[in-house]
Amino acid sequence: MALRNIVTVGDPVLTKVCRPVTKFDDRLSQLVDDMIETLHDANGAGLAAPQIGILRRVVVINTEGEDWELINPEIVEVSEEQQTGIEGCLSLPGRWGIVTRPEYAKVRAQDRHGDWYEYEGEDLTARCFLHEIDHLDGHMYTEFAEKMLTPEELEELLKEQEDAAEDEDAEV
Ligand code: NI
Repeated sequence: MALRNIVTVGDPVLTKVCRPVTKFDDRLSQLVDDMIETLHDANGAGLAAPQIGILRRVVVINTEGEDWELINPEIVEVSEEQQTGIEGCLSLPGRWGIVTRPEYAKVRAQDRHGDWYEYEGEDLTARCFLHEIDHLDGHMYTEFAEKMLTPEELEELLKEQEDAAEDEDAEV
């Protein structure tokens, strides 16, 4: 396995539409393993192949203590219920914005062997599914963020979330 270099905003590769994966071979398996390693190393929640300069429809996600590999992912269903929260991207380090997305998403995707599965996600996982699939179509969350946060605003919001979590703990 090897770490790959993550490209940042301004690189035209991030604005391109990725091609479907058609060969489920050792090379793909290596790519998926490298992406998972790169994602863990960067401490991120999701990584799409164009972010390492590869224009193929491959996404890896790490949420709920689990790695998800999604090849040729398609959105099957999203909830009407929305979530509004802080979102960032490994291709835009140090910046965060407020983005509203569906609270729940169901996706259909292949694994590295070409078998199709359906995956359901809520909250952060749903947010990651949608954020990463946007990358495959050349889109960044900054295109539809309601607001980009200053470092002060980010700190304040994180503090509020922490306080809210403490209140929840206290109720147990
Ligand atoms: Ni991203």
